[in-house]
Amino acid sequence: MGCSICRTRLNFGRALSKVSLFFTMLLIFMYFFYCFSGLCNSIPRTQFNLQTLTPEYASQNELKERDGSAVRSVSYDEVLLASSSIQPQIPDSIERESLPSNGISVSNTFGSKKFPQAIIIGVKKGGTRALLEFLRIHPDVRAVGAEPHFFDRFYDKGLEWYRHLMPRTIDGQITMEKTPSYFVTKEAPSRLCALNCQTKLIVVVRDPVTRAVSDYTQTLSKSPGLPSFETLVYKNATSRTIDVSWSAVRIGMYAKHLENWLQHFPLSSFLFVSGERLVSDPAGEMGRVQDFLGLKRIVSDKHFYFNQTKGFPCLKKPEGSSRPRCLGKSKGRTHPHIPAEVLQNLREFYRPFNLRFYHMSGQDFGWD
Ligand SMILES: *[C@@H]1O[C@H](CO)[C@@H](O)[C@H](O)[C@H]1NC(C)=O
Ligand SMILES: *[C@@H]1O[C@H](CO)[C@@H](O)[C@H](O)[C@H]1NC(C)=O
Repeated sequence: MGCSICRTRLNFGRALSKVSLFFTMLLIFMYFFYCFSGLCNSIPRTQFNLQTLTPEYASQNELKERDGSAVRSVSYDEVLLASSSIQPQIPDSIERESLPSNGISVSNTFGSKKFPQAIIIGVKKGGTRALLEFLRIHPDVRAVGAEPHFFDRFYDKGLEWYRHLMPRTIDGQITMEKTPSYFVTKEAPSRLCALNCQTKLIVVVRDPVTRAVSDYTQTLSKSPGLPSFETLVYKNATSRTIDVSWSAVRIGMYAKHLENWLQHFPLSSFLFVSGERLVSDPAGEMGRVQDFLGLKRIVSDKHFYFNQTKGFPCLKKPEGSSRPRCLGKSKGRTHPHIPAEVLQNLREFYRPFNLRFYHMSGQDFGWD
């Protein structure tokens, strides 16, 4: 009888020590997790630089984290449609902020939401999504997945609405967003300058003729009844005057839009990224971008491989991710046939704008 009580006590004691061992392990594990997330400020940074500087390590973690987040290559409208499933990204209610984050991610509860220090402001079909995906490999870059469209469509929602869209960042991390329509929005420069005139601005530009065709092809894939390219491109088909009110044409008049931006921002605020070089030499172009942002050159040729069949560079597949991320994803679309003469007309139309843009930016993009 007495012995059975003994045994129960002994078992209880064993269980207790197992539980305390478990909790000790858990604590140690949590501490390490905390430190490896780069949040352990009490330890000098140099001690774990080895880990953070190994590109594979950094990119795997970063990409894994991103795959888990609900916001990727979706437009803000799509996010709005799906808002019920990813509520925390939509700051309708500020109280949501103070709720515990279910302990899903440690980084969710650390740092704070800041206005972006750098924005990819353009251009549509230039390669802005690819650039942002490449930048997100960098451990010091945190970016909104969706396009906020704050300085064009949602300015009325106010600055706090905008700030709450941003991911949390800790010291030394850069907050970024991309909305390619800012570059062609008349009010965007003054609005952004009113918030922060020191914001770094990245513009991905591409040959305006191929950009226009790509833009049209995308629209056509969404609305198959669209009139032909040549119908839309001319204001007067007899005199062959180009219709500058058509957005596919207007967006490519880079000099005109840049002029508007230069009324509010100095040229030194801008980095012009060549959409063509982002494809032919992604690592080289990423080097320029990281220098401009004052980041260590972490994203390098180690992160890319060239898919010969596709003819485009891809990001090295992070472990556990099912599909590789490549540039030129939409290349599978059938391109509409556009007469060479029409393209030649458009090329001539753009030439003076291009030359002016080379002059303003101090860079020859070689589109002619
Ligand atoms: C189109 O251009 C032709 C030739 O320059 C001109 O005669 C005609 O009036 C123009 N049509 C319109 C609608 O502007
Ligand atoms: C390269 O691209 C082709 C065509 O999209 C695809 O079938 C193939 O799996 C890709 N190869 C690699 C190594 O990503």
